[in-house]
Amino acid sequence: MSVSKSRVHKVGILTGGGDCPGLNPVIRAVTRRLLADGVQVTGIKNGWKGLLTNETVPLDFSSVSGIVHRGGTILGTSRTNPYKKPEDAPKLLANYNALGLDALIAIGGEDTLGVAVKLIKEGLNVVGVPKTIDNDLSNTDYTFGFDTAVNIAMEAIDRLHTTAESHHRIMVVEVMGRHAGWIATCAGIAGGADIILIPEEAIDIDEVCHVIEKRHKRGKDFSIVVVAEGARFKNGPMVAREDKKDAFGHVRLGGIGQTLSNMIEERTGFETRVTVLGHVQRGGSPTAFDRILGTRFGIKAAELVLAGDFGKMVSLQGNQIVAVALDQQAVTMKTVDPEFYQMAKLFFG
Ligand code: F6P
Repeated sequence: MSVSKSRVHKVGILTGGGDCPGLNPVIRAVTRRLLADGVQVTGIKNGWKGLLTNETVPLDFSSVSGIVHRGGTILGTSRTNPYKKPEDAPKLLANYNALGLDALIAIGGEDTLGVAVKLIKEGLNVVGVPKTIDNDLSNTDYTFGFDTAVNIAMEAIDRLHTTAESHHRIMVVEVMGRHAGWIATCAGIAGGADIILIPEEAIDIDEVCHVIEKRHKRGKDFSIVVVAEGARFKNGPMVAREDKKDAFGHVRLGGIGQTLSNMIEERTGFETRVTVLGHVQRGGSPTAFDRILGTRFGIKAAELVLAGDFGKMVSLQGNQIVAVALDQQAVTMKTVDPEFYQMAKLFFG
């Protein structure tokens, strides 16, 4: 579907799902690029929720000034799923029309973009921007936020190394990664972890303890074990903090680090401590890489809208920012490449 530039007067933008360093650079780039062509920009507050409750904010030069270095999102976010209750999707479509929007830029992960795919089928002019610190979206080489999260986790591992060595302890570091262990694998490689455990490969506790004991035998009386929060034991479930599910059916993860730590201490007799990095990985300033990737994604998304090229998602392929179809395939999971994990394993023990 293609419309002439003059048909786009007002464009909405929203951020949905977990926040992520780099969202503000995207919002800034989209706004600056659209304003340059005289297009009005409407910020929708708190993801899809803002389109249900009609909470919007006009975006101009001053509202996106001084935000490129800020983490989080100036628009707020939520995990609202407008397809959960039958009355919500029609309400959302009515509000979109009442706002006089010609198009919508949705910035989000699997869930937020999954909603966008459904809205495109209902005839809405949507362009998607992929976002997740987990880096687990197929159809883009990287998502912004991931580089920041990896650097935060790597720095934590560096810091844990010195104290682990001084106290001759095993340090278990629990990092984010619900379905994919990209953060664990990359931060683990960069930080020189001795074991990395990810959701893609079930944990064999005998093997973990064997590696630690082998290290001790060759004089290394401390170890760093990085575990993704979504990792699970052989034949075991994911470890959840509570059973309550969000609007997209995800349980609140957390606790695998403590469980693992207890098992290692009990089996090896070595003192084992756990550090859960949690939302620290998502907070604070984005790295230069994430600011630049967010900016490039934002400019491309705005240009797709200006060209009337809807139903697309911006994507990083190699060093190029390209447009791919925003369909079910675009929001499928990208798990850790087994060859890459195999390389990380070379350094175990
Ligand atoms: O999807 C990104 C992510 O950071 C996951 O790694 C994690 O499981 C989840 O979000 C946690 O989100 P919340 O902010 O709801 O705790």
